Amino acid sequence: MTRVVCPGSFDPVTNGHLDIITRASYLFDEVVVVVLVNDAKKGLFDTAQRLDLIRRSIRNRPNVTVDSYAGLLVDYCAQNDISAIVKGLRAVSDFDYELQMAQMNGNLTGIDTIFIPTAPDYMFIASSLVKEVARHGGDVADLVPPAVLAALDESYGHQH
Ligand code: PNS
Repeated sequence: MTRVVCPGSFDPVTNGHLDIITRASYLFDEVVVVVLVNDAKKGLFDTAQRLDLIRRSIRNRPNVTVDSYAGLLVDYCAQNDISAIVKGLRAVSDFDYELQMAQMNGNLTGIDTIFIPTAPDYMFIASSLVKEVARHGGDVADLVPPAVLAALDESYGHQH
């Protein structure tokens, strides 16, 4: 059985993340979506909210579970019998950093990283840009799942 991890900050989860998670769920027996807690970076949503938004956005995927972890991703993988890390790759600009992380993680425990190319429709979506647009009242309805749209509206006090 192959269990993989889709790690990230997910502040908040976007349609781009959900596409990668869904495609990984077709390819592997089990997918664990892990919110990595980074105390140095205060986000918009706290860890419990991020987990809740992911759970509410992933429906009918019995082989996808959601978890959080404060520590090194490779340690989570070792403790949870994870075979590989799955990451989405948007553009060349993602590649340098993602390759560096993949090689660092590989160097730490030998774990491999598998890159899934982002679908063209989601290339430009990033949580940071979604938050910026939503903060100024822009329309992000096509970029995030309904639960996230509602949470953004509530955080920023906008209505659509
Ligand atoms: O969604 P992001 O912010 O691009 O995800 C980056 C993330 C959370 C996957 C990465 O920062 C990470 O793995 N953090 C956990 C701590 C860790 O293992 N750091 C070493 C990475 S080589």
